Amino acid sequence: MPELEVRNISKYFDSIRALENVSFKVKDGEYVTIVGPSGCGKSTLLRVIAGIIKPDRGEIYIGGEQVNNKPPQERGIGLVFQNILLFPHMNAWENITYGPVVKGWSDREIERIGREMMDLMKLTFRSDAYPSELSMGMQQKTALARALASGSSLLLLDEPLSALDTRVRVKLRYELREMIKELGLTAIHVTHDQEEAMSIADRMIILREGEVVEIGTPAQIYFKPRTLFTAEFIGGECNIFEGEVIKINNYFAEIETEDGFPLKVKPHGLHKGMKIVVAVKPEHITLNCGGAENTFKGEVREIDFLGSIIRYEILVDKSKLFIGKTHRGNMKILRLGKTINIGLKAQNIHVYRKQ
Ligand SMILES: Nc1ncnc2c1ncn2[C@@H]1O[C@H](COP(=O)(O)OP(=O)(O)O)[C@@H](O)[C@H]1O
Ligand SMILES: [Mg+2]
Repeated sequence: MPELEVRNISKYFDSIRALENVSFKVKDGEYVTIVGPSGCGKSTLLRVIAGIIKPDRGEIYIGGEQVNNKPPQERGIGLVFQNILLFPHMNAWENITYGPVVKGWSDREIERIGREMMDLMKLTFRSDAYPSELSMGMQQKTALARALASGSSLLLLDEPLSALDTRVRVKLRYELREMIKELGLTAIHVTHDQEEAMSIADRMIILREGEVVEIGTPAQIYFKPRTLFTAEFIGGECNIFEGEVIKINNYFAEIETEDGFPLKVKPHGLHKGMKIVVAVKPEHITLNCGGAENTFKGEVREIDFLGSIIRYEILVDKSKLFIGKTHRGNMKILRLGKTINIGLKAQNIHVYRKQ
């Protein structure tokens, strides 16, 4: 079965570094997302795995076998791209069964796989429709069904939902994961959308300027980002302060931020005089001080109602803090200009060495 291993892959386009020493493994049946900003090498990586681009260095293993010299069509993979590539002159059924037809499968086999895919994608009622008659969401489902129909058990998805509008995109991402899990396939799904990456992955790979920054489950990546890059990139807005460790003992390190803001943090890996950057998620700042090592008084300066979350901008001395609060539908919203007490636990402050 298609366990995938990417080992020490590097790829340059002249002097442009697209991938640098990229290594990771994907287990059989796993749904992995690769996430990073535009231009960080995501598409290049997928193309190297698919065999469309030859790497400068490194190896690709599929099911334990080194496939560097195998052409794409012999690697047993299905590919789906952001730009939906359907044959415009073929209807949905013909598009989906194209692979099996070309491969010369028997009529019975073609009929069986065609029906199974149509069923799976809930497309049966549109099997006669041409791509131009289908919604974008349905077109992408058809492209997906076509990728699956050839019997590939490793799926490579390059921003498969990016061309769709938000409502369809969110709905389809769950359907996509569900289908892939139901069929027991292995999937590598590339996206620049951190929310999409987090919501559907078993594990996430964070890519930056051609290098793997870190790999982990969505919860690990979100709650314990090992790098400032991840902390800022994943999970939306983050409070970031630069500062210096001014005191340290076995229990706490005391940090003074650039604005003269004192913070107690966990001391592991820190030393006195160290220049650091701290990151705090908005939802980790509480509106009371109970049990928090850091407590402050602040003034509510801005209120943004974002639906399920209210975002407050709080001024504490000279520093601005963003707080995100979910509400219980009781419409109890803090007033502008109100002075409030806020708390921040040391364990929720992520500290990184300043680069
Ligand atoms: N065929 C190519 N020729 C030259 N440069 C390329 C080519 N493909 C990608 N690049 C460059 O490699 C880097 C990574 O690109 P890409 O893998 O497409 O990133 P992503 O998919 O994450 O947006 C970018 O700097 C891009 O401009
Ligand atoms: Mg890309």
